[in-house]
Amino acid sequence: MTLTAPVARLTLSRLHAPMLETIPAAVAANVARIRQSTNARIMAVVKADGYGLGALAVAGAALAAGAEWLGVTDAADGGALRAAGIEAPILAWLNPSGVDAAQAAADRIDIAVGSVDELRQLAADAVPGAPLLRVHLHLDTGMTRGGVPLDDWAELLRVARGARDRIDVVGVMGHLPDADRADPAANAPAVQRLRHGRDAVLRAGFGPLLVHLAATSGALTDPATHFDLVRVGAGLVGIDPSETVALHGAARLSASVVHSTAVAAGTPVGYGGAYTTDRATHLAVIGVGYADGIPRELATGAAMAIDGIRCPLVGRVSMDQIVVDTGDRHVPRGATAVVFGPEGGAVPSVQEWARWAGSIPHTIVTGIGARVQRGIAGDLAHRRTDGERSSFVTEDLLRCGRGRGQGQAARGQAARGQAAREHAAHGPEGLA
Ligand SMILES: Cc1ncc(COP(=O)(O)O)c(C=O)c1O
Repeated sequence: MTLTAPVARLTLSRLHAPMLETIPAAVAANVARIRQSTNARIMAVVKADGYGLGALAVAGAALAAGAEWLGVTDAADGGALRAAGIEAPILAWLNPSGVDAAQAAADRIDIAVGSVDELRQLAADAVPGAPLLRVHLHLDTGMTRGGVPLDDWAELLRVARGARDRIDVVGVMGHLPDADRADPAANAPAVQRLRHGRDAVLRAGFGPLLVHLAATSGALTDPATHFDLVRVGAGLVGIDPSETVALHGAARLSASVVHSTAVAAGTPVGYGGAYTTDRATHLAVIGVGYADGIPRELATGAAMAIDGIRCPLVGRVSMDQIVVDTGDRHVPRGATAVVFGPEGGAVPSVQEWARWAGSIPHTIVTGIGARVQRGIAGDLAHRRTDGERSSFVTEDLLRCGRGRGQGQAARGQAARGQAAREHAAHGPEGLA
């Protein structure tokens, strides 16, 4: 996992390397928006390096805005956040590289248990007398992709009871298979199942329990799914899978124009001449390609913004470059092409790129390649089209959440106050 920190923009021969900027103020504003939909605690899910935008930057902004927990896929990612000074409680689920039980307990990483075998293994690995390993029992609430089937729940509880000297059951979780439909009726069976599973855990003598089910869609659309905590990942970075709320885009990808040229009508462009110009025009070559995460298969309409004008992609996407049609304009080498960003207007959104790629926005932000530089965009970048500015100060957001003994709860309280002010200033539905 990379824990993204601000990097200087490199300028060489007037070009800048492809750059993915994270906008912490947008993350904070999204947490503020989610707070309007729930009284539950918010877990900021920063798996896959904060959905591609930097786990540390996203976590810091989310904690500053009132999130109280962090969620990751792998305990080692949680350990990296701890090493960076993050103090908030962290839950790791799936754990594809396994769990070092003693290390997880020492790092204060809670582990979600998705099978009876996994719990047996953890119980065998955990050391009696060492700090208890805190676990959340993960019930399959209809996803059939993880989580213990209800039929195995009694056996799971039997194993948990036998390991009480090493393992502390502190939570029960499920995951909603159908929340993107924004239809509470579609979530009702999962809610029912989780209540049933929770009650069995309480009857077995465990508790108090932190119960959680909803991700972004459930958090925004169905209060019945909220229980004690909602686990929000996509929503932090401006993606609402239910498409019911306009959140704030938290990412901007840009690259330089590397060459530009005037061409005649009938000029083939790129590999295979898959596109031929239909008129005399200007073309600009942008230094970013599929190795940087630009999808190769794109529907008509895919475009980038140069100087506030949307320029269509022409020809095939290559590994390192893309060609755009700039029409009557000759665009100089070194001009900036914005691939996507939160500005709106000529600048495409991540959601538009997902539509052009026949995919979901998550794959666009998490797919940006390793050679793309990472940076942090300040508050100016978060200007709304109506001229309002975010009241979150980027430097404060980046600092937040780190440092031992700083009083997470006090910070959370302050942040909740700021989140409320932010929401009041911005109105309910974010950027235009
Ligand atoms: C178990 C679990 N909870 C929460 C999330 C966050 O979901 P979202 O990104 O829709 O908020 C995920 C993401 O896939 C997940 O696997």
